[in-house]
Amino acid sequence: MPETAPLPNPGPLLELTGILRDRGYLATQRIPSMKRPLWKIVAEPLVFAAYKKGRTNCFSSSALTGLYTGSFFRQEPELEPLYRLFFLNRAVPFQTVCGILDRQTIQNLLNEGVICENAGSIFSNFRVVPWRSGLFLSDPEESDDQRRESYVYVGGDSIILSEFVSRAIAGRRFRRGLDLCAGTSIQAYGIADHCRSVDAAEYNPRAVAFAELNVAINGLEGKVRPLMSNLWEKVDGVYDIIVCNPPYIPIPEHKVSGRNMDAYGGSDYGMNIPVEVFRGLSEHLDTPGYAVFLAASPVIRGKSLLHERLSPLADDLGLSATLTAWNYTDLMHDRDYQRRKGISHFVFYVIEVTRSDTGGLRTVHLPLHRKCPLLLNALLRRHL
Ligand SMILES: C[S@@+](CC[C@H](N)C(=O)[O-])C[C@H]1O[C@@H](n2cnc3c(N)ncnc32)[C@H](O)[C@@H]1O
Repeated sequence: MPETAPLPNPGPLLELTGILRDRGYLATQRIPSMKRPLWKIVAEPLVFAAYKKGRTNCFSSSALTGLYTGSFFRQEPELEPLYRLFFLNRAVPFQTVCGILDRQTIQNLLNEGVICENAGSIFSNFRVVPWRSGLFLSDPEESDDQRRESYVYVGGDSIILSEFVSRAIAGRRFRRGLDLCAGTSIQAYGIADHCRSVDAAEYNPRAVAFAELNVAINGLEGKVRPLMSNLWEKVDGVYDIIVCNPPYIPIPEHKVSGRNMDAYGGSDYGMNIPVEVFRGLSEHLDTPGYAVFLAASPVIRGKSLLHERLSPLADDLGLSATLTAWNYTDLMHDRDYQRRKGISHFVFYVIEVTRSDTGGLRTVHLPLHRKCPLLLNALLRRHL
């Protein structure tokens, strides 16, 4: 496992992110970086059309990622080493880095541990994720057994939630916003323009420190306030908008560690944390107010366990929720666990919540042409 890099001072990071912005790094957010298996090439025309319309993001997936990087960097060759170093976290030859950053900047970044040098190559200890006009410092993407302690995450579901929320709150203004389970504070950033102030509550102290750096990098001091809190513990008062991308994946007890606290949703098939998020809304969501969070439901013999948990709570607490499905999938991390528990598949939901005397859950499925291939794939992969 790589050592956890100490956190750098804001100075050199602000210098680096300033350079990245000047060089046009934000434009790389259109490049799909997640590799799909080659047989999924049948869906590539859709990815290509989305790319052409500027609708892909840096976590979009493609069977032909090289096609997009190749064509993008033919126009912007100077950006490629920066993208490789700070987004893909690949090694870049020292001489190449010297051609794009001045010696003093490189030295500052080396001194602060933002980058390191090994055998003539430069590596970045951090990832810089471009999203909208913002840059977010996170840990590099690492496989489960390679991840560092107190891992700090940004990923595809961060973007899915942020996009969903932007559409839902377009044109609306709020007083007090909360980003719960904030990680890098990317969701706080997404609602900041709509709110007078936003609290970004997070349990992992390392993530709180990343959030503070990201607030500085994105000029949100005085607007977004990171704080350390175990779920609702240190959250005070009511908010008229609450956004939360909590951990929601089941992981067997013996595999739980500080390396997967971004993912592990707790007991009860990984639903404990999302259910506690829902429960806490009864105390912290203002009237009227809007809350939105992510959760995954295991499906066993056709029954959605998440619906079973949330339905009585919604009625008791006077909360009304709409569960909008955005993915049907299997537990890629641990198919054995999934088989042992008799889970046929998982449905990932964006859950919108408002107060209402009547309570109740409503479910919105993906249209059949999008649901069927995903579901079929999830059901087949379970047997691999
Ligand atoms: C899936 S990550 C999402 C991070 C960020 N909100 C985003 O959208 O990218 C879940 C986050 O919840 C944090 N977390 C885990 N358990 C928590 C708890 N009990 N209280 C608050 N935050 C928690 C993790 O450290 C991680 O940063």
